[in-house]
Amino acid sequence: MDRRSFVKAGCATLVGGSLLRSLPGLANVTPASYELTASEGVFSFDPKQPDATRVMFYNQSIPGPVIKIPQGKESVIQFHNALEEPSSIHWHGLRIVNAMDGVPGMTQALVQPGETFDYRFTPPDAGTYWYHTHQRTWGQLALGLAGVLIVEESHPPQVDQDFVFAVDDWRFNQEMQIDTESLGAMHDWSHGGRMGNMITVNGQIGKTYTVSKGQRIRFRMLNIANSRIMALRINEPQASVISIDGQPVKPYLLKSGLITLAPGQRSDLIIDITSDPDSISPIELLIKDQVYPVASFEIDNKIQREQLLDSPIALPDNPANKIVLPAEMKNIPLHIGGGAMGRMNKAIFQGKEMGIKDLIQNKQIWAFNGVAGLPEKPLFSVKRGTAISLNIDNDNVWPHAMHIHGYHFIDDRNPGELRDTALFTRQEKGSLMFIADNPGKWLIHCHMIEHQASGMLTWFEVV
Ligand code: C2O
Ligand code: CU
Repeated sequence: MDRRSFVKAGCATLVGGSLLRSLPGLANVTPASYELTASEGVFSFDPKQPDATRVMFYNQSIPGPVIKIPQGKESVIQFHNALEEPSSIHWHGLRIVNAMDGVPGMTQALVQPGETFDYRFTPPDAGTYWYHTHQRTWGQLALGLAGVLIVEESHPPQVDQDFVFAVDDWRFNQEMQIDTESLGAMHDWSHGGRMGNMITVNGQIGKTYTVSKGQRIRFRMLNIANSRIMALRINEPQASVISIDGQPVKPYLLKSGLITLAPGQRSDLIIDITSDPDSISPIELLIKDQVYPVASFEIDNKIQREQLLDSPIALPDNPANKIVLPAEMKNIPLHIGGGAMGRMNKAIFQGKEMGIKDLIQNKQIWAFNGVAGLPEKPLFSVKRGTAISLNIDNDNVWPHAMHIHGYHFIDDRNPGELRDTALFTRQEKGSLMFIADNPGKWLIHCHMIEHQASGMLTWFEVV
């Protein structure tokens, strides 16, 4: 199967043989300071193919380099913008000082072409996070500006190998270039967002992980796609979830190996490899009734150990886990309206009430509480320490991945875990609860990036 037929088939197919190579981005380094340069260039998603794809990337790698920083210590990440357009970097899921949150026009000025910005912060919580552009995200992210950030525990569970699995979704054209003509298409924005036709893991088509029978691996899974919800299946029966969106949970075994990650969401697993030597154990993406292998464990011919490890796999609690919600909380209703097949016929945009035709003229099709796009006034403004219950009513026929900057919240639909990004299916309701203890201006938006661009964006203030 050549690459064109990949595109035609609509999704990635497992490529035979090993495509494993050491990406510069996946090197194991732990510096106190880092440099990230965003630029345009060419990248090969399939190393066997000579033709390359025009992208935007960090340090010429897709995804950008895996940044590993220590928990509770200050790190500096120097961002150089070598693009021909302004940009910024947001550290998704990190509870850091507001000025470092990377939202242009709200927490910092745009980083103009040729400029440098130092991101300097101390992450309180260990875990798996990511970083991505927060400027014209629907375009810059679709072209590749994202990477993985790991905040390392001082006492991680003992594993034989620690892997990143960053799954992404790309829309390619027949020339194997990213389809930029359809960027900004209102049809995508009013439906489920931009869906691609090529799935990569760590920037590779058909990524393989070499493991041995009896090995214990940590598997850090991230969905860094613009809009595709990924339903994935791991075909190793001993796979346990140990963290969600970076925060430790009481470990539990995956049911039938199934795990769903909405855009922006992460999950760390501990997998004890039980497949036999010289076999292949695929990791599959499920789309409706179709199964697409997107990566695989290649079990080599060694046996690591006959008896599986039985040391504890639970992660040490993060400070985030210490959250205690009071009985009294400030209730903030958040109604989500709009989208294709919706009933929305008007909304306020930039202070003006507009009918649906004018909204579409302005590329707006979604509204929070009847307001499309970033309002001038915050959704709420509270004193530091106020307990918030954001009561979401997803009153439309589309799924949405609701992300709150700078916080982890308890979702009343799943109170045993903390999240920074929560999936709501059509017509679903749920409350996201947290203590507003970090001062500043913070965004709330849908992480289907096309929805964010076309209305699903608001903010709150903690003083
Ligand atoms: Cu990962 Cu404002 O987003
Ligand atoms: Cu959405």
